[in-house]
Amino acid sequence: MSQKALLLDSKFGSFKVATIPRPTSALAGEILIKVHASALNPVDWKVRDWAVFLPDEENYPAVLGLDVAGEVEDVGEGVTGFKKGDRVFYDGGFKNEYAGHQQYCRAPAKFVAKIPEKFSYSQASTIPTGFLTAAYGLCADAPLGVGLNPTFDDIKEKFQEKNALVIGGSTSVGQYVIQVLRYLGFPTIIVYASAHQFPYLKTFGATDLIDRKAVPFSDLDTAVKKVTSSPIDVVYDTISLVDSQAAGYKLLPNGGKMVITVEDEIKDKVEGKELVHVFGNVHPEDHKEFGVTLFSKLPKLLEDEIIVPNKVEDLPGGLDGIVEGLRRLKNNEVSGIKLVSHPNETA
Ligand SMILES: NC(=O)c1ccc[n+]([C@@H]2O[C@H](COP(=O)([O-])OP(=O)(O)OC[C@H]3O[C@@H](n4cnc5c(N)ncnc54)[C@H](OP(=O)(O)O)[C@@H]3O)[C@@H](O)[C@H]2O)c1
Repeated sequence: MSQKALLLDSKFGSFKVATIPRPTSALAGEILIKVHASALNPVDWKVRDWAVFLPDEENYPAVLGLDVAGEVEDVGEGVTGFKKGDRVFYDGGFKNEYAGHQQYCRAPAKFVAKIPEKFSYSQASTIPTGFLTAAYGLCADAPLGVGLNPTFDDIKEKFQEKNALVIGGSTSVGQYVIQVLRYLGFPTIIVYASAHQFPYLKTFGATDLIDRKAVPFSDLDTAVKKVTSSPIDVVYDTISLVDSQAAGYKLLPNGGKMVITVEDEIKDKVEGKELVHVFGNVHPEDHKEFGVTLFSKLPKLLEDEIIVPNKVEDLPGGLDGIVEGLRRLKNNEVSGIKLVSHPNETA
């Protein structure tokens, strides 16, 4: 049996849709998913341009795609709680059969969750990378995160006096960071984002806005002090440019905690300021335990709308639409939405 997949043909090569064999049954402990929605992430173009995560020639041709939603096609030996036809979402990995930009993918059952009826496949596909990057960074114990809530239980009273700043609040990751901070009970969640996004970000729990188009990173310190004279206990920098990291780190008091999403560019580190470069994916060995915790809690968090998906834009053309979507992501032409491909609509 065959399927369509988007292949990155070689290191620094090109994407093209190809016909490849498809898995027909699930392995033990796993689920085989018919992929209805596969969301795009900046890392997809970063793999192509910079070979991040897949540095070896042997990794190619590669299938990418970390954010999967679809229908259970087959259930492997030992898996309970799922049956053929269930609507599910899954955190994909950097391994061909376990990635999303294809029509069928394998998934370890412990990193699969059911989609509440009220959410579509497209909406559900926005959750894994964005939510996990927020949750690992804020809540997992070091070195994976800054350890605010390693059990991810509802522990609101602990953070009643705390303030947080989210740099890049309208990114996919930022939208989930705001929601996780609200879940943790932070009373002040300042977001640095475009002003037009503020009404939307307020629905997730943002309390104050600093307009990124009016305030350069060099003035962020002053702008934050106009919002609150209290210390900023937690900074989550979803953008993690050289200047945003410097601005966030400068704001942090001794004992403060900061999460960044790309390589650490901060000079002149200060002992007492905690900094974590997060990796929001369940597949590395030391990530699995917290991943299982999060996937076990996600269906209820979604059902109760404590966590809600990003807004989506459905791309036309099935897997063929991904290349243009990645061009837009790379050129900063996407604001406040997640681009989603539908592999089964491929011609
Ligand atoms: N380490 C990890 O595990 C991990 C996981 C996921 C993502 N990442 C990385 O994290 C970054 C964000 O990813 P994403 O998927 O969340 O991004 P995204 O949703 O594609 O980002 C688009 C958003 O970026 C905002 N933006 C662009 N420049 C900005 C600036 N200077 N200040 C504030 N906001 C700005 C735009 O805001 P406007 O609405 O204002 O235009 C737009 O809404 C990427 O570099 C990605 O590779 C890392």
